[in-house]
Amino acid sequence: GTSRKMSFGFNGKMNGVEGKTPFLIGVSGGTASGKSTVCKRIMEKLGQVDKDHTERQVVCISQDSFYRDLTPAEKLKAEKGQYNFDHPDAFNNDLILQTLRDILAGRKCEIPAYDYRTNSLIKDKVTTIYPADVVLFEGILVFYFPNIRDLFHMKLFVDTDSDTRLARRVPRDINERGRDLDYVLNQYMNFVKPAFEEFCLPTKKFADVIIPRGADNTVAIDLIVQHIRDFLSNRCRVVVEPESPISRSDETL
Ligand code: CTP
Repeated sequence: GTSRKMSFGFNGKMNGVEGKTPFLIGVSGGTASGKSTVCKRIMEKLGQVDKDHTERQVVCISQDSFYRDLTPAEKLKAEKGQYNFDHPDAFNNDLILQTLRDILAGRKCEIPAYDYRTNSLIKDKVTTIYPADVVLFEGILVFYFPNIRDLFHMKLFVDTDSDTRLARRVPRDINERGRDLDYVLNQYMNFVKPAFEEFCLPTKKFADVIIPRGADNTVAIDLIVQHIRDFLSNRCRVVVEPESPISRSDETL
């Protein structure tokens, strides 16, 4: 019979866990729009929290883990709030592309860890991402480059008012990212807001689903979760059906 812990993966039975292709979802939206919370809600509704990687079928990765390490000169600029962290080139886009390709190929991969307080990658710290059935990739510019954008099976855009976003960003940066009010507001006016309008907002048109108000929008999140569940159970059926005759013939041997 089919075990309860079976993998939903397309090739899960044939190639083992390493070979499966996950359903890849991109989640974009402006800063502090609630992208991470939307991802968290999706994972909660799918019953994914508090499970370890051997059971977990949904994982979430942040584009922020892929910030480029800064040169000493850039670091000085960043400390003065004069570095543009909202420009597409601030990210290591080659590594993003390679990582998403690895994920799609069902390969285990390692994600760098980033520290906003020091504006730098944390040395010797990586997070291992194991093959999963659904992978969420969230960030302000995940739909900017066509070669990255084209990898997603589903694209979500979290559309939250800019004043709401600013009202969330100010206390977050002060409390969690070690900045002062002047720094946060200057960075917002000089870089965050113009870059949002130039690079992030124009990518809204590529989204399959636009989520107004973000994580408060339980109707939208429920619809998306239902779509993911349908996908998982269809996949399950694809794997299970050809398996039965094989296991039956095994028994007769
Ligand atoms: N950023 C920063 N300093 C750094 C690196 C990034 O201030 N050293 C800021 C950038 O200005 C960018 C933001 O981090 O605007 C990107 O993170 P954001 O999307 O705001 O965070 P999430 O938690 O992913 O978003 P959400 O609140 O939507 O979940």
